Amino acid sequence: MQRCLTATIALHRAFRQKTFTIHCKHTAAMSTLLINQPKYAWLKELGLAEDNNGVYHGTWGGQGEVITSYCPANNEPIARVRQATLSEYEETVQKSKEAWKVWADIPAPKRGEIVRQIGDALRKKIDVLGRLVSLEMGKIYVEGVGEVQEYIDVCDYAVGLSRMIGGPILPSERPGHALLEQWNPVGLVGIITAFNFPVAVYGWNNALALICGNVCLWKGAPSTPLTSVAVTKIVAEVLEHNSLPGAICSMTCGGADVGTAMAKDERVNLLSFTGSTQVGKSVGMMVQERFGRQLLELGGNNAIIVFEDADLNLVVPSAVFASVGTAGQRCTTTRRLILHESVHDTVVERIAKAYKQVRIGDPWDATTMYGPLHTGQAVEQYLAAVEKAKEQGGTVVCGGKVIDRPGNYVEPTIITGLAHDAPIVHTETFVPILYVLKFKEEEEAFGWNNEVKQGLSSSIFTKDMGRVFRWLGPKGSDCGIVNVNIPTSGAEIGGAFGGEKHTGGGRESGSDSWKQYMRRSTCTINYSKELPLAQGIKFE
Ligand code: UN1
Repeated sequence: MQRCLTATIALHRAFRQKTFTIHCKHTAAMSTLLINQPKYAWLKELGLAEDNNGVYHGTWGGQGEVITSYCPANNEPIARVRQATLSEYEETVQKSKEAWKVWADIPAPKRGEIVRQIGDALRKKIDVLGRLVSLEMGKIYVEGVGEVQEYIDVCDYAVGLSRMIGGPILPSERPGHALLEQWNPVGLVGIITAFNFPVAVYGWNNALALICGNVCLWKGAPSTPLTSVAVTKIVAEVLEHNSLPGAICSMTCGGADVGTAMAKDERVNLLSFTGSTQVGKSVGMMVQERFGRQLLELGGNNAIIVFEDADLNLVVPSAVFASVGTAGQRCTTTRRLILHESVHDTVVERIAKAYKQVRIGDPWDATTMYGPLHTGQAVEQYLAAVEKAKEQGGTVVCGGKVIDRPGNYVEPTIITGLAHDAPIVHTETFVPILYVLKFKEEEEAFGWNNEVKQGLSSSIFTKDMGRVFRWLGPKGSDCGIVNVNIPTSGAEIGGAFGGEKHTGGGRESGSDSWKQYMRRSTCTINYSKELPLAQGIKFE
């Protein structure tokens, strides 16, 4: 996915430039910060101020670059955050390592109790935190609240896990021997998250990492720093209330310098990175260079396939939610709609009609269904993709233009007539453009689903049970998420979340994803007075 983020030098430069411009712009407009307007006074309920510390490791700091957070719906400045310097990063890692010595000794169910309290603290702030996500990221209010709910849900899940995780005792081939698996925390988990889910993705990692006995160090996206600060304040209060070291959940706001430091740091035992395939690749290589452990959640180029027997009353709202929702900025957004030739025209017509009814507005208004893109840069990417699609033979059925209003608004767009392997169809552009393709045979459609580099989410609409199981089987979808009669986006936390190929291979959230946050020891214990060797070897 093309999330504007962190770790490459190029992006860092671009980002520094942007903050420089923003900073100058801001100095001129000091009195107009949204946080100072009565309408946004609720931001103070989250402990936010005009200037906020962007470093936490038990105490708050921030001596680095000052960054202004902008509202994508009007490009007004909200408030400022002081990011971490590299020496503050260093101090934070040291504090985190000290905190681990305390945290790792606490029994897992007691760690679960702390995670339960974090979930409860989030419940109390769900409305106001959801509103901040909406204001700062630009997604609609219900989706902002929804991702706080994901964090709460994964806390509940992790509380249960805290009494369940563990390894098997296996039969040993040697008499008087026990063979078992012991799971231990990896230590310090570095978490780098993207702008598009500034709460939930941290939450999935944080709740699981904590019950496993790890401490966390979080770097959120540089364009959603207020959300990182607000979430960290909620978590810190729980830790401090329990007289635990705050550095169990540290935060260093920053750009590529901090991201690179985390990727290269041998003391970061697991680096969980969510962002673009391009940045993820460079992060992954830095971590691999030091034989570190990584969990990558990268791009998706997700398809819905609609067969001739599909229930179109399910297809239409599913496709609209998955392609228009979050203004096309989920890694699970549907980017390709692969329609059987017998239903192609009907579905296009119905979806185009539904697109025209999507209520566009301020993301925090209760009736709005569709808000802005996160940045002006994304608007440019949108326009470039529409142009390329036209050049490559596509027809714009609806949308294709920037909306004339303040903020980064573009029209949700449907494009038909492209070849299944047109370069633009195989490119993940992180904007609300849906490419509609026409197919004849099941095998061809499954092939098109799998022929892209990414392998995150996929879905078919059909009533044919044989087809359902072919889709789930070895010759079906090669994605990490394989759905039937539901959209590609909107996964529950109970399943493992992640994908294959250029999506990075990581799994977060439910099922046995907890294993990624732990190291496994295979332990053989001889409780006899003999020393039989495995495989019957005699060494005498
Ligand atoms: C992401 O876009 O990075 O399945 C995560 C979904 C959400 C998570 C998306 N639960 O769409």
